[in-house]
Amino acid sequence: MKLAVLGAGAVGRSVAELAGDYGHTVTALADSSGAVVDADGIDVDAVLAAKEADGTVGSARPETALEAEYDALIEATPTTLGDAEPGFGHVEAALERDRHVVLANKGPVAERYADVRALERESAGEVLFEATVGGAMPVLSTIDDFDPEHITAARGVLNGTANFILSRMAAEGLGYEHVLAEAQDLGVAEADPTFDVEGTDAALKCVIVANVLAGERREYTLDDATVEGISSIPGSALELAQEDGRTIRLIGEVADGDVRVGPRLVPENAALSVSGTRNIVQLETEHAGRLNISGRGAGGPETASAVLADVGRLPEA
Ligand code: HSE
Repeated sequence: MKLAVLGAGAVGRSVAELAGDYGHTVTALADSSGAVVDADGIDVDAVLAAKEADGTVGSARPETALEAEYDALIEATPTTLGDAEPGFGHVEAALERDRHVVLANKGPVAERYADVRALERESAGEVLFEATVGGAMPVLSTIDDFDPEHITAARGVLNGTANFILSRMAAEGLGYEHVLAEAQDLGVAEADPTFDVEGTDAALKCVIVANVLAGERREYTLDDATVEGISSIPGSALELAQEDGRTIRLIGEVADGDVRVGPRLVPENAALSVSGTRNIVQLETEHAGRLNISGRGAGGPETASAVLADVGRLPEA
């Protein structure tokens, strides 16, 4: 397929770099200040080298990527709240051209899920968004395969940055600010890391799961979530938990029509006690008990692999 990639942060860059390995051609790549477009395929290595040197991928206007020749638009610009713009407008533009959309940006499906679905119904294009929940982990496709009607609840560790911070603080006794800087260096933190540490990012993922589970019955947005972050957890709380064979994890939960995110005590040897940037999602099924899905929940190549898996699920034009 021909892919137009919007966003040249860790995820957009990795999608562009890996697309060829999955048999796809990148015909456009845009960042916030420029774009490069070539219907025969851009030279990804040269474009990314130019970004490194000049701070932008190219001299064309960013909007030219939306007008390029492509089968699927990859929306990997930073997540925004409220009206989810400009991501939502990008989704709309692609669907109006009957093109597919694959989202890494959580905003459109967390804040305007019903609008996205309404646009999709009017289009020959499809919208997929596996990469928005848990990086490389196949959470949404598993829900889809299993049938959302037969999943009663979901919970898990859904923010790699917060989990990295909590694990490092507990294991090394390091301070919060120091470990947050390490997470930013790893490239897993959001453009605005308060999204990670205040629980917003985990809540957005839970809202997306809630939307997928609810289907047409109800639309969730961030306003429906009860959210508490980890920024005020002192190292001493982690030490106390450890003395008792437990630890603290930022847990998101979708159950009984509620979406909740907050720090919770969990046994150190429990499945939920993943460490580092690892994530886990537990799906409670109606007839088959619990499914655990665990893996790398953040990072450029990890999230790009979920984007490219979605591209593989799209029908050819
Ligand atoms: N900042 C996010 C995290 C990236 O740390 O999990 C994936 O959404």
